[in-house]
Amino acid sequence: MNIAIPAHIEAIVPYPPGKPLEEIERQYGLKNAIKLASNENPFGPSPKALQAIQNAMTGLHRYPDGSGYYLVRALAEHHQVEPNQIVLGNGSNEVIEFLVKAYVNEDDEVITSHPSFLMYSKFVQIKGGVNRVVPLRDMAHDLDAIAAQVTERTRLVFIDNPNNPTGSALSPELFASFLDGLPDTIIVIIDEAYADFMEAALRVPCKELISDQPGRCGVVCLRTFSKAYGLAGLRAGYGLMHESIAAILNKVRQPFNVNSFALAAAHAAIHDRHYYNTVVSRITEAKEQLMRRVEELGCNPYPSHTNFFLINIHDDAATLCEAMLHSGVIVRPMSSYGFTNCFRISVGTDTENERFLEVLSHCLKVCGYG
Ligand SMILES: Cc1ncc(COP(=O)(O)O)c(C=O)c1O
Repeated sequence: MNIAIPAHIEAIVPYPPGKPLEEIERQYGLKNAIKLASNENPFGPSPKALQAIQNAMTGLHRYPDGSGYYLVRALAEHHQVEPNQIVLGNGSNEVIEFLVKAYVNEDDEVITSHPSFLMYSKFVQIKGGVNRVVPLRDMAHDLDAIAAQVTERTRLVFIDNPNNPTGSALSPELFASFLDGLPDTIIVIIDEAYADFMEAALRVPCKELISDQPGRCGVVCLRTFSKAYGLAGLRAGYGLMHESIAAILNKVRQPFNVNSFALAAAHAAIHDRHYYNTVVSRITEAKEQLMRRVEELGCNPYPSHTNFFLINIHDDAATLCEAMLHSGVIVRPMSSYGFTNCFRISVGTDTENERFLEVLSHCLKVCGYG
């Protein structure tokens, strides 16, 4: 074959997804390994979501409802917005993709932070756009530096709040003054994949922000069913936005982008507030306890508004992560994000957390760090 490959596509380094547990067990000859590496919800989805999947089985020979009628209406009620202000995605990842597809042309600029969720810049590369990358300051988004990067070529700004991988979050007040200073030619995307774990007072007022305010930038808030709702495997996410932006994203969306199981399960999950509240508070409590125990082992956890946190071991974390992997505990080293002394751990079940602490303590000694 002698097929020309566009240079901007050839330059892309594929996203390194967390490997499935079974693959790691096979590769390392492990049994009963635990995975605390992909910020998943260890408790799984609401039983009502599982029942909804069962019920949806009989309709699998039909295409899904392309408008996501029931889910969109449930979400509109939940967020107190209009149904035409919601766009569903095959994971919130897909809504990120729609935004870049619809608004970014070759050589247009998109501002992202480093480190932050890697997929923003990948989609921009695919479109041949230019990533303007602003380093975090004190582990958090540097809004002044981001604002200073805005030019007439800027189309989008991506801010994950809370940030992945640091877990930091910015206050609604900081966002308000930042957004007020930005031109009406750009869209700021506030990616709230982990907002469910954040104190309510820290959450930005999405309904208000997505309204059209003359002279001010557009705002899109992204949410997902992959984290607090425990439905990562089904792929369901959504964006809240002004109806004029939603109408544009709907032009680039495939008609059946969200599958029938995802629509049914997400609809059931959003209504099961009891399960959601129980899971979120269990994870939050377990995180605080884990942080204290990690500190007792001489490591430094960073404060986090999510279901994961970074741990600084003040030594080479990649070596420690490899040792932990051999003991059947999978965590995420952070050297590719520039934090060579840190790894990231997602909160697990009580049993998983205890096993992690045992293995961490053992491996710190084995690596000569303890
Ligand atoms: C900050 C952030 N945004 C978006 C996503 C994508 O989530 P989804 O599973 O909804 O595509 C992730 C996934 O880890 C994430 O960390």
